[in-house]
Amino acid sequence: MITQWKGQDLPRVLSGRFDLDDGHTLAVAQKDGAYATLGPKLFDQSQFELIEMVMDSGLRGRGGAGFPTGMKWRFVPRSSGKPVYLVINADESEPGTFKDRLILERDPHLLIEGMIIAGYALGVRTAYIYVRGEMLPQIARLNAALRECYDAGLLGENIQGSGFSMDIYVHRGAGAYICGEETALLNSLEGYKGQPRLKPPFPAVSGAFAAPTAVNNVETIAALPWILNHGAQAYRQWGTDRSPGSKLFSISGDVAKPGVYEIPLGMPMLEFFDLAGGMVGDLLGCIPGGSSAPVLNAEECDKATMDYEGLQAVGSMLGSGAVMPFNTQRDPVQILNCLTRFYAHESCGQCTPCREGTGYAARVLKQLAAGKGRGEEIDLAYDLADNFEWTTICPLATADAWPIKSFISKFRDHFERALQHTPEQRQEGLLTASFPGAFM
Ligand SMILES: Cc1cc2nc3c(=O)[nH]c(=O)nc-3n(C[C@H](O)[C@H](O)[C@H](O)COP(=O)(O)O)c2cc1C
Ligand code: SF4
Repeated sequence: MITQWKGQDLPRVLSGRFDLDDGHTLAVAQKDGAYATLGPKLFDQSQFELIEMVMDSGLRGRGGAGFPTGMKWRFVPRSSGKPVYLVINADESEPGTFKDRLILERDPHLLIEGMIIAGYALGVRTAYIYVRGEMLPQIARLNAALRECYDAGLLGENIQGSGFSMDIYVHRGAGAYICGEETALLNSLEGYKGQPRLKPPFPAVSGAFAAPTAVNNVETIAALPWILNHGAQAYRQWGTDRSPGSKLFSISGDVAKPGVYEIPLGMPMLEFFDLAGGMVGDLLGCIPGGSSAPVLNAEECDKATMDYEGLQAVGSMLGSGAVMPFNTQRDPVQILNCLTRFYAHESCGQCTPCREGTGYAARVLKQLAAGKGRGEEIDLAYDLADNFEWTTICPLATADAWPIKSFISKFRDHFERALQHTPEQRQEGLLTASFPGAFM
């Protein structure tokens, strides 16, 4: 892990134990300070004080929407007569995103400690971690870490003699991108089809088993031990006023050193590329926040900063923090072809605009990418996206519409060329047409 940049220490709120040998074990993690919060620091505070601490830190959800975590917790009613659940979203299926799995693999105790803090603040007795089913090594690490915690009295009845009791269960999903959407996740957890629910009611009020539920991303909850140890204001030493703190970014694509980096929010995008070894080739564009984030051209990348408002200002979003820069050797038509195939495949089929529209758009773009366009495909794909954007139960269709509309608007000349040339002609001199390779 790179720990310094331009002579300054980079934050290690989340990645502090990533490089330790056996940092995933309780013995090593505890030697490094894990679970130091499970004493007066946590148990002498009221639930109200803890929630206000999270509010003051400015921590925002790292699963994609960036909603303030303290605010979400304030919405969870305590006097409904039902239990309050905490559900951790470890589905992580957005193409290009691979940061939560690193926490599960390298430092599962950070997540568990964060869950105990969140559980105590919200009055939770039972918590779940919903993990994408294919993440077998990470699930094994998580289960081993949970066993260690039960054996050491860090979970279960009367944790550390505090009077607070909490159990954590790991639930394996079956591997569907849509199960990362919080209400589809809850349906899947309850044993139903993993299909999103209509909102409202929001999970905070009626979530798991129709009871109040905080659904939070792995990385969000993993920030809590540091915040409780050092204070809300210390967390604000990094980032911007509205996007405080640090974040894990997973960067792939045309940089020399792809991987996961913890950086302060607000870092200029091009500086982040330099941190990741620099661009390989000349920058053409970048998907800045997971595959659903509108693509940026090189000029916009030059202006962008890596925080919620900075990416919004250039017309995109921070999303899950998956950054995919690509160089002039790549073919935007093929990139969009890959993305639309993915979304069409992952539609859960409940809403007609999504079920039919994403598939139709994918077929049109496949035709175009194959050099078999007849002339109308570019505008047809754009119009389809424009029509299914924001018309559905969940944002999956919109997550398909944004790349379609932004790729066509920003790289229209490449799409026009696709009408005139075969893929072979277009690729003359190109490195490869498959990007991002993971879902070709
Ligand atoms: C299609 C879709 C997929 C999603 N996938 C994930 C995911 O894999 N992990 C995640 O934490 N949030 C994902 N989200 C966002 C969740 O619905 C939810 O906002 C998040 O888990 C809340 O946690 P946070 O407030 O800590 O970010 C997804 C949303 C949508 C619409
Ligand atoms: S938008 Fe698509 S994925 Fe979401 S509920 Fe409708 S059909 Fe399912």
